[in-house]
Amino acid sequence: MRPYVIIVSEVSVDGKLTLYRGASSKELMSLMDMDAYRYLHEIRAKVDGIMVGCETVRTDNPSLTVRYAEGKNPVRIIPCSTANVPLDANIFSKDAPTIIVSTLRAPRERIEKIRELGAEVWIVGEDLVDFDKLLPMLYERGIRSLMVEGGSSINWEFVRRGYVDEIRLIHLPVIVGGENVPTLVGGEGFKSLKNVLNLRLRAHFKRGHHLITEWEVVK
Ligand SMILES: NC(=O)c1ccc[n+]([C@@H]2O[C@H](COP(=O)([O-])OP(=O)(O)OC[C@H]3O[C@@H](n4cnc5c(N)ncnc54)[C@H](OP(=O)(O)O)[C@@H]3O)[C@@H](O)[C@H]2O)c1
Repeated sequence: MRPYVIIVSEVSVDGKLTLYRGASSKELMSLMDMDAYRYLHEIRAKVDGIMVGCETVRTDNPSLTVRYAEGKNPVRIIPCSTANVPLDANIFSKDAPTIIVSTLRAPRERIEKIRELGAEVWIVGEDLVDFDKLLPMLYERGIRSLMVEGGSSINWEFVRRGYVDEIRLIHLPVIVGGENVPTLVGGEGFKSLKNVLNLRLRAHFKRGHHLITEWEVVK
């Protein structure tokens, strides 16, 4: 068993997640109006868990809490193979539980320091975090619904394994351009129409000035 997985992202019209590789997406997200933020935070308030990749923690330093809607904060889950996450990161605030999911490569002292901050550290995998093992563990822990907020590497891990049930996008009315700028989904790519992830448009509407699209994965 695994959690119900919803990928949620803010994307430019050309599918970019940020302005250039290595840039915090917070600058691009400053285009979002309050209605769009409420939409995002309403989803956070309904799920049991929220995940972003370690690189997003390092570049964006998100809090991953519910601030523009009513409801409880989801459990924050961060895949991070060497536990190389800044010890003063916002994800370590006391507002919600945090699980750093690491691997056998994580230095013991690093794990201890993170535990001292009150977060859990799980070792799931040898080299990279093993999502095949992690998802059933999250389910066992009571995470029945999981919101995945990127970045493109983590989104690819979910997409390529077929561990996605829905994708919800907040469209930002700009073109960013740039060959190497992270898009919604990175990784190797499926390379064949036979293997691509097929989606069905479930809803489209406006929140504030933004187009929202909600897609179901066709199984
Ligand atoms: N617009 C949006 O909605 C949005 C949302 C989120 C992020 N972003 C942007 O996306 C960019 C970051 O995306 P990203 O693709 O570079 O990084 P990412 O997906 O946030 O994180 C990837 C990192 O996760 C760790 N990891 C652990 N296990 C893994 C596994 N099995 N597979 C893949 N990664 C694993 C690796 O770091 P270690 O080697 O340290 O383990 C890897 O580098 C930033 O610019 C951020 O601003 C935008």
